[in-house]
Amino acid sequence: MRVPNAFALLCAIPAVHGWGELGHRTVAYLAEKYLSSAASDLVDNLLANNRGWDISDGALWADAVKHRRGYNHTGKWHYIDAADDPPRYCNVNYRRDCKPGPGCIVSAISNFTARVNDASLAQKQQKEALMFLLHFIGDIHQPLHTELLDRGGNDIHVNFSNRVENLHAVWDTHIAHKMRGLKAKEGDDAVLKEAAAVWAEELYAANEATVAVAECRDVSTAEKCALEWAEEGNAWICDNVLKPGVEWLKDRRNDLAGEYFDDAVPVVDELVAKAGLRLGAWLNALAAGRECAGFVVQEGERIEI
Ligand SMILES: *[C@@H]1O[C@H](CO)[C@@H](O)[C@H](O)[C@H]1NC(C)=O
Ligand SMILES: *[C@@H]1O[C@H](CO)[C@@H](O)[C@H](O)[C@H]1NC(C)=O
Ligand SMILES: *[C@@H]1O[C@H](CO)[C@@H](O)[C@H](O)[C@H]1NC(C)=O
Repeated sequence: MRVPNAFALLCAIPAVHGWGELGHRTVAYLAEKYLSSAASDLVDNLLANNRGWDISDGALWADAVKHRRGYNHTGKWHYIDAADDPPRYCNVNYRRDCKPGPGCIVSAISNFTARVNDASLAQKQQKEALMFLLHFIGDIHQPLHTELLDRGGNDIHVNFSNRVENLHAVWDTHIAHKMRGLKAKEGDDAVLKEAAAVWAEELYAANEATVAVAECRDVSTAEKCALEWAEEGNAWICDNVLKPGVEWLKDRRNDLAGEYFDDAVPVVDELVAKAGLRLGAWLNALAAGRECAGFVVQEGERIEI
């Protein structure tokens, strides 16, 4: 175990301060608005490559690689399978729900928080760690990424806008697209980037008084913070997502684009706003820790992934 010196202790004090493509890009753009200049440099430097990515492209990478050779074990890191009993009873239990071997979104956030600033890792590894965090801090705010039942709602087929969709996809994508009046498909990058930038701007303006101070922002207790976020998302499973009961949700006569959608809108707005704020605060704390650790990041270094 390393004994922290006085400087490291001082530095350990935090500085003041599952979604689809649209959701992830919005979380990233919103986080960007809260970044300190050091955090902004950290993101720019680690993401710098020849593809001209912005922060929201970095936030999508984890979904793009999860089926790629060498990355198929990372799929488990996008969620935590809370084995609770919704809508009667919701809760997340780390020991019950996060299997030590494969891990889960809570252990992954903890792991990659440590890896971003691990000077013993190659810069490419730090970059991957950053991109995983950009994604997972979004996903942990999607309630169905904190629920085991029916594979996080993937096996619950529902009627949404007169189409048969699975409930997980409804929450990942369809509610957000309807909220934002979008007809775009996943992969319509230019349209989705623009829509995400506008949504992020609105959420930022709505929370004008909020600075990038999130309740839990101590990167040295990442597992505790991530577990709190997971518990908060999971509570929405009972209070909103599965509240009408699975039988009602599966009944094809119930179009979820009606009242169910109306009830979901404020929840999605709140969770996306919180994810963006928390991600911003997290990156600020990481950047402060990185400065303390004496990292020298080369300007705009090109790292291929
Ligand atoms: C990942 O792919 C390899 C090779 O195709 C396979 O052996 C392994 O079981 C897969 N792992 C998971 C977690 O799916
Ligand atoms: C942390 O991340 C690295 C890199 O992806 C991975 O090899 C390792 O298994 C992870 N550790 C845990 C405990 O999740
Ligand atoms: C969805 O619900 C509406 C309203 O009950 C119904 O008219 C429509 O046929 C349903 N669509 C599907 C695909 O089941």
